[in-house]
Amino acid sequence: MTAATSETTRRLGPTPDPAILDPAERMSVDELRATQLERLQWTLRHAYENVPHYRRAFDAAGVHPDDCRELADLARFPTTSKADLRENYPFGMFAVPQEQVRRVHASSGTTGRPTVVGYTEKDIDTWATVMARSIRAAGGRAGDRLHNAYGYGLFTGGLGAHYGAEKLGCTVIPVSGGMTPRQVQLITDFEPRIIMVTPSYMLTVIDEFEKQGLDPRASSLEVGIFGAEPWTEQMRREMEERLDIQAVDIYGLSEVMGPGVAQECVETKDGLHIWEDHFYPEVIDPLTGEVLPEGEQGELVFTSLSKEAMPVIRYRTRDLTRLLPGTARPGMRRMEKITGRTDDMIILRGVNLFPTQIEEIVLRTPGLSPHFALELVTRGRMDHLICRIEARPDCPPERRPAAAGEVAKGVKDIVGTSIEVQVVDPETLARSVGKLQRLADHRERA
Ligand code: DLL
Repeated sequence: MTAATSETTRRLGPTPDPAILDPAERMSVDELRATQLERLQWTLRHAYENVPHYRRAFDAAGVHPDDCRELADLARFPTTSKADLRENYPFGMFAVPQEQVRRVHASSGTTGRPTVVGYTEKDIDTWATVMARSIRAAGGRAGDRLHNAYGYGLFTGGLGAHYGAEKLGCTVIPVSGGMTPRQVQLITDFEPRIIMVTPSYMLTVIDEFEKQGLDPRASSLEVGIFGAEPWTEQMRREMEERLDIQAVDIYGLSEVMGPGVAQECVETKDGLHIWEDHFYPEVIDPLTGEVLPEGEQGELVFTSLSKEAMPVIRYRTRDLTRLLPGTARPGMRRMEKITGRTDDMIILRGVNLFPTQIEEIVLRTPGLSPHFALELVTRGRMDHLICRIEARPDCPPERRPAAAGEVAKGVKDIVGTSIEVQVVDPETLARSVGKLQRLADHRERA
């Protein structure tokens, strides 16, 4: 979809009274940069003095915290990767004694060891502050009831959203993910104004409303705060239309904090403002590591600016986006909606393809639902991508072959590669309760 079409499909929310924003949200760029430099210098020292990994890495790169005199000097420091966290499993990246660590979270990690992150009491308060700020930017206010269907537990989604919502003054309904009929019952009976959930699980809940003969548009929900996985403008339109809500994007990752690192403002819906008073962003070329200028696409890298328990220096997120100037919060930069992760990228016969590109094409094809799954297989010596998409319940059977052909053609035209498309019966593909795994890789390894 072009920027112009997404513009016309976007229904925007009200602009908040500036008086209710945090002071940091009203900072000028100059004030913000001064705060960032001071906090960055503290963070570099804190990491160097208390985390053996950072001392070794800085020494090996020939840099010292004193070398950071301006923000641009950060580029001289080494980046940190998920592998560094794994090598220091479980608590080796912590910068404070254990008795100061109030909580840990961990990523599920499909392969190998999980990555473990820790928080002091102050870190938990900072996280709640940025999360409260995010919910407010999405249109939430004190006194709202908030249905939280992000998973509670080691995943940062549930508890992160929970503490932020309480801090803002909302009434939290801590449902977690799963038991879909009960999600519908609780939304119907408790009448929340806000829902926080992964976009893929939101779709499952919307389908459940319809299965129970209820009209999701008639629910009390007015705002959906969706994140933890990539989703497209087409998906926004799907959810806004089917639920009659404002759908906004929330971003975060455990290593940097959890949800609430960046948030889309409902009054502009034009990408996510990064809460730069706590998280310093850079975008780098994923191959060379070179820092890219604002506006260029690359891998997002974050340095924490206030975290005590587990500071992160130039953490490589593997998420692909670009930085843009602030709009609704003029001092803070935005990141464009994420198109994918470097490790989600499918390389099919030499062509790069992201699942979000397929999502866009599927959702603009009449008769097709947003539920689709991708499978990579080897046939002969060639890799093939099979895309299975559920028909919408009202799609006539004779429409299915044409719809499959339109998706295959769309992928060929836009991405430049051939894929096999199968339109399958409704309710036949696996559903997610949290993050959706779209791709199954069944290729034979040479
Ligand atoms: O997913 C934190 C979170 C919870 C964010 C709830 C938003 C809402 P992790 O499990 O560590 O943390 O996964 C982080 O998820 O690097 C991205 O690849 C992806 N991700 C998170 N938010 C978005 C988003 C949480 N809005 C990883 N759009 C990140 C696209 C996202 N991808």
